[in-house]
Amino acid sequence: MEVLGIDIGGTGIKGAPVNTLDGSLTQDRHRIPTPESATPEAVADVVAQIVDHFNWNGHVGCTIPARVEHGLVRTAANIHDEWIDTQVDNLLSQASGCRVTVLNDADAAGLASMRFGAGRSLDGLVFFITVGTGIGSAMFYNQQLVPNTELGHLRLKGGSAEDYASNRIRRQEELSWKQWAKRFQKYLDRVEFLFAPDTIILGGGISRPQKVKEYWHHLKTRAELIPAELENEAGIIGAAAAATP
Ligand code: BGC
Repeated sequence: MEVLGIDIGGTGIKGAPVNTLDGSLTQDRHRIPTPESATPEAVADVVAQIVDHFNWNGHVGCTIPARVEHGLVRTAANIHDEWIDTQVDNLLSQASGCRVTVLNDADAAGLASMRFGAGRSLDGLVFFITVGTGIGSAMFYNQQLVPNTELGHLRLKGGSAEDYASNRIRRQEELSWKQWAKRFQKYLDRVEFLFAPDTIILGGGISRPQKVKEYWHHLKTRAELIPAELENEAGIIGAAAAATP
């Protein structure tokens, strides 16, 4: 079947219908810049525009970079504070006229990876870690998602790990790939110390092949470390997979 997947990011809100059997996009994706003041109402309006663009009236899956407990947003590290305590599934369903399922962006990207990407057929304890503006995480045991792990907020160097080792920090502090990898290694060490995963999949912008070759050789893990495959579209695909009835 087809489900419309929508990925709400810091700079763009992207959507496309997804074939939920093989994870392929069935139409070109449509992107609208994230409103400058990304309040729940402003974002809901963009989600409705994406639904209209595809003339959609079926199921919709949507990501958000926050902890989402049964459709209720609980945190807002990199999004507008007004999101906290928003019943986001109801808000987006009302705005779009469709039934919308909402989940954390890293959980969605991880789900896509486990179904259709680098994680397919991987059993045991698998962590999907996405590195961009923030650091997101998704935890799977024998392919089953344990949602909302939020490991980007592990304490590292006196603050949140994502304020020390995200891609945003690499850019802001003009770190070389080697300098950034040294920081990210500390983060991976912490994750391994706490959870001892069998496999760690790295996603987000840093998983593109041209970036991977800059830093991969600086990282060392006990777990098998592999780059994600679906890159930009993982959020859309995972959102659709999560909303498949
Ligand atoms: C948020 C997470 C999100 C991650 C990646 C973090 O700041 O707390 O919910 O998954 O960024 O976007």
